[in-house]
Amino acid sequence: MQKLAAGNWKMNGSAAALAEVGALIAAHPAPACEMLLCPPATLLAQMTWAARGSKLMTGGQDCHTKASGAHTGDISAAMLKDAGASHVILGHSERRADHGESDALVKAKAEAALAAGLTAIVCLGETEAQRDAGETLALCGSQLNGSLPEGANAANLVVAYEPVWAIGTGRTPTLDQIAEVHGFLRAQLVKRLGEDGHGVRLLYGGSVKPSNAAEIFAVRDVDGALVGGASLKAADFGAIVAALSAA
Ligand code: 13P
Repeated sequence: MQKLAAGNWKMNGSAAALAEVGALIAAHPAPACEMLLCPPATLLAQMTWAARGSKLMTGGQDCHTKASGAHTGDISAAMLKDAGASHVILGHSERRADHGESDALVKAKAEAALAAGLTAIVCLGETEAQRDAGETLALCGSQLNGSLPEGANAANLVVAYEPVWAIGTGRTPTLDQIAEVHGFLRAQLVKRLGEDGHGVRLLYGGSVKPSNAAEIFAVRDVDGALVGGASLKAADFGAIVAALSAA
């Protein structure tokens, strides 16, 4: 399986930040893993253009369930594809929290993404209160099963485990905790998708940085990372790409 280093720029970055893309591509022209950046929608077409001819893929951070229509401010999966995206992040905890996105909505969005020919990166993960209450696996299982699109397979689905309490905090789960959740998610995916479940990339996300990437990538069933803050700088994201390439 090809591993995947994915960066989520969230609501960060202006045209000037595209200089980081040039630096990343120059430093990592032929990584041994897949490399993806998901900028804000305003930069998607420009970033795709900046990445033309390189190994860097681009993606969106959200999409609507419909292909077009009267939905002011929204963006469809087909539009992301048209702007050059190959992937779209769906169900990120920030969207689940800020926009009240349910598992059913995430599933519908993921199905729209697959219909448009995009790979869906479905995110899930527990809050600190849920972990403290011993609900982590039950919660991750119900989010996975509720958000999994019909027609998912190893080529069009990526799952990102992002514990909410580890996002942007500098805190990470122990390697055993990551292994427990990823092993559980793998078993769930195989139960739902059969053989294909073995090939779905399982990303870890939450305070991944150059200094902890290698140890996280050595954990069984960790097939890459979804990186927030550290994806904004070419040097940091490049170091994470290098760690994944070496894993
Ligand atoms: P940080 O890497 O900034 O913790 O963000 C993780 C994340 O939410 C990626 O989607």
